[in-house]
Formats: sequence, C-alpha cells, structure tokens
Amino acid sequence: MSDSTYFSLNQQAWDERAKVHFDSQFYDVPGFMQGNSSLTEIESAELSEIEVRGKSMLHLQCHFGLDSLSWARLGAKVTGVDFSAPAIEKARELNQALNLDAQFICSDVYSYGETAKTEFDLVFTSFGTICWLPCIDTWAQVVANSLKSGGIFYMAEFHPIRDFLAGESYFHAPAPYVYDEGTYTENGAGHEASMASWSHPLSRVITALIDAGIKIDKVSEFPFSPYDCFEGLEQREPKRFSQWIGTHALPLVYSIKGTKI
Ligand SMILES: C[S@@+](CC[C@H](N)C(=O)[O-])C[C@H]1O[C@@H](n2cnc3c(N)ncnc32)[C@H](O)[C@@H]1O
Repeated sequence: MSDSTYFSLNQQAWDERAKVHFDSQFYDVPGFMQGNSSLTEIESAELSEIEVRGKSMLHLQCHFGLDSLSWARLGAKVTGVDFSAPAIEKARELNQALNLDAQFICSDVYSYGETAKTEFDLVFTSFGTICWLPCIDTWAQVVANSLKSGGIFYMAEFHPIRDFLAGESYFHAPAPYVYDEGTYTENGAGHEASMASWSHPLSRVITALIDAGIKIDKVSEFPFSPYDCFEGLEQREPKRFSQWIGTHALPLVYSIKGTKI
C-alpha cells in the first residue's frame, strides 16, 4: 500500500472519531462552551499566555479545534489544520458559536506545507499527532517553513517508549504499523477502525527539527499523561495518569520547544 492509501485509511477513521469524540465526556464540549480550557498543565506551563497573546499561531492536526480555540481565548490568532472534514466542520461551528476569530483549514499536513505561504509567530501541535505521518523530516520542514524567523515551535507528544512496550517498534520503519482499534474516548465501543501509524524515536524528531532550521531550546519528559487514554494507567495525582514498572513511572509524554533560526 502507498502512503496515500494509508492516509485515506486514517482519514476515514479520524472522520468517524471526530463525530464520536465531539459527543464524549472525554472531550467535554459542554464544559468547554462554558469556558473550560482544553489545554493541559504541560503546554499551559511551557507556552505562556504572554508568549501567545496577540501572536499568530499555526496549530497542526487540530482535531475539532478545542485546543485551537483555547489558545484563541488566550488571545492568539489561530489557524488550525486537520485533514478530517467533519473535524474541521465542528471546529468552525464552535468558533462561530463562541464568537472567536480562529481559522480552520481542511488539509493533510504535507499538502498544506506544499502550498501554504503564511509565516506564523508560533507553531503548535500536541498529543497523538506525528504517529500519523510517515516522514518526520517532511513534517519538520512544514513546521520550519511555517515559522517567521525567531518564531516559536512547541510540541507535546506521547512518549514513544510506551508504544514500544505495547509491542510496536521503537525505531522508525517506512512500513507502518497497521491495526484495528477502537478509539480512546469512553463512548468509543463499536467504532473500531483500521489505522496506520509510524514510530518516530525522540532522537529522530529532535534531529529532524534541527535539520529543518529549528534551534532546540528545551526538551522535557514527563512521568505522567494528562489524559487517561491508555490501558493500565493509574491516577495518583489529579489529572496525572501514570504507568508504573515496579516503583518507577514510565515517561509517558515529552515536549520540545524551539526557535526558528
Ligand atoms: C489525536 S488527534 C489530535 C490531538 C489533539 N490534541 C486533540 O486531542 O484534540 C490527531 C489528529 O490528527 C489528524 N490527522 C491525522 N493524520 C493527519 C494528516 N496526515 N494531516 C492532517 N491531519 C491529520 C486527525 O484528523 C486528528 O484530528
């Protein structure tokens, strides 16, 4: 199968997931409409309100826009990109209902990068994004090309060590891992779909960003996930879900902050 065939497999699954997720307690759209932020403690602490207020932000793989609109509520001028049309439709509806000024573009990340000319102050992406992309170098090039010189890149992502312990390759292979899976929200039963994902070890992500012209300012690893989205996680602190091996917590999330040279 070609990468474009895998993309359409994933797109079908994400189109279905967008509708299921929108109605889930996990995403809590009613709470969001009443003013809750969907941002987690990780990106909220590492990308400050001062850094985003009044800045233009590209949000790659924005799903149905809750994080994009949370940044918009903090004063960022956000453009969200996602290849799922139902997700983008929901994002636009929420944007209008909340009277915010975010823009949403329905496109896969690579096609967006081939045509887009706008340079942003910030590029943001988080939690469950790069595993859907076969080539991390092309992704890093899209990130770098979308930033103004001096612009900030920030990502928070699930740690690849967890997928390795769940049976996937730690190291990258051109052929994806293809599997049938339900989704991670509590209402996901009956929505199993075939999906294709690619491993990207931390070293490759960092090197791809450096090669694309991003100066790495900070890399962090976290012994918890802010989401209860994997089997076997245990919550010992509010909104911190960990996996223990003996008495040691697994790194479940990493983040990278950098600046376009
Ligand atoms: C886990 S979600 C995004 C996570 C986000 N933090 C959230 O929970 O709202 C992953 C998103 O990536 C999108 N996606 C997957 N592959 C993509 C691609 N090649 N181009 C653009 N979007 C893609 C999906 O449609 C989905 O909305």
